[in-house]
Amino acid sequence: FALDALNTFGLPCVARRYGEILSASQLANLVRSGELNGDRVLVLGGGSNMLLPERFEGTVLRMAIPGRELIGSDDDHHFVRAGAGENWHAFVRWTLEMGWPGLENLSLIPGTVGAAPVQNIGAYGLEMYERFLVLEAVDLKSGSTVSFDFDSCHFGYRDSVFKQEAAGRFAICSVTFRLPKRWTPLTRYLDVSKELAARHIIDPSPLDVSDAIIAIRERKLPDPARIGNAGSFFKNPVVSAPHHEKLLATFPALPSYRQLDGSFKLAAGWLIEQAGWKGKALGPVGMYSEQALVMVNQGGARRADVEQLTEAVRREVDTRFGVKLEVEPERV
Ligand code: EPU
Repeated sequence: FALDALNTFGLPCVARRYGEILSASQLANLVRSGELNGDRVLVLGGGSNMLLPERFEGTVLRMAIPGRELIGSDDDHHFVRAGAGENWHAFVRWTLEMGWPGLENLSLIPGTVGAAPVQNIGAYGLEMYERFLVLEAVDLKSGSTVSFDFDSCHFGYRDSVFKQEAAGRFAICSVTFRLPKRWTPLTRYLDVSKELAARHIIDPSPLDVSDAIIAIRERKLPDPARIGNAGSFFKNPVVSAPHHEKLLATFPALPSYRQLDGSFKLAAGWLIEQAGWKGKALGPVGMYSEQALVMVNQGGARRADVEQLTEAVRREVDTRFGVKLEVEPERV
């Protein structure tokens, strides 16, 4: 089964077996039937944060579970649940239209609802964990359904238990969000405040924030439907305070954000641009001209091309700044 059209980077990939999952019970029954025993299983959402191999010797399960509903509320929150297969952006816009704001800063992020907790998607001053209540997953070993609350997800920056201890063990089937009834716009991120000012909006509605973020993303990030990519290709690296100070002495313009523990997060896009890789290609892959942090498929790229450019960029950034970049999408 060819997965070329099911990963936004557009890498060619052939899987031995492929199936679509439309409900948690269908998946639970499949696991319990023993049909997957001894097989490698790859759980696929929108394929927008994955680098696929040329061959996958196992079963690919594409999570296509539908559904979105208000399941309750308390004094302060609406609780809204969505099936893992729902398109993330369509879900966000639907919540806004229904009058349940809170996810607008995460507008236009590619992928599905079920994939969102895996890397704890984040953008423009908001991370998904801030709106997360609980998720249901099927254990691919036993077929039982397991709930993960906030604490058991171990959310971090672009990270969760599903990328660490529990990697490959569970398929997320639905996610429930807690959306604040007393809403205030999150517009501290410079790009967002600038975009709203340019639109002469002083008191933005949730849809205004969403529209502004859509415009920013459309300017900076390549549309995966037109140019293959997997979003930010590297994580923003964190360095110690002394390392930060040393860098700042040589590069006074270095963008950095102080962390709670006193370390500093650097902008990988800036480091890559300084290292000369912005808008530059190596074979059929390159670093995007408008945002150096995004690797793009200029047509016909294979996994080996991706690995080659990854190493070239990492080497150059390490040589210049003594910083080791970590790849953000999942390398299957
Ligand atoms: N910068 C450059 N050159 C570049 C790119 C960025 O100098 O080519 C500088 C910018 O000028 C700015 C800083 O780097 O000072 C940060 O840039 P930006 O605001 O574009 O954000 P980012 O840190 O590069 C992160 C997320 C994005 C998210 C944006 C907005 C990661 C790995 N990436 O990018 O997430 O949309 O912030 O919040 O944390 C993704 O994960 O796929 C993704 C797109």
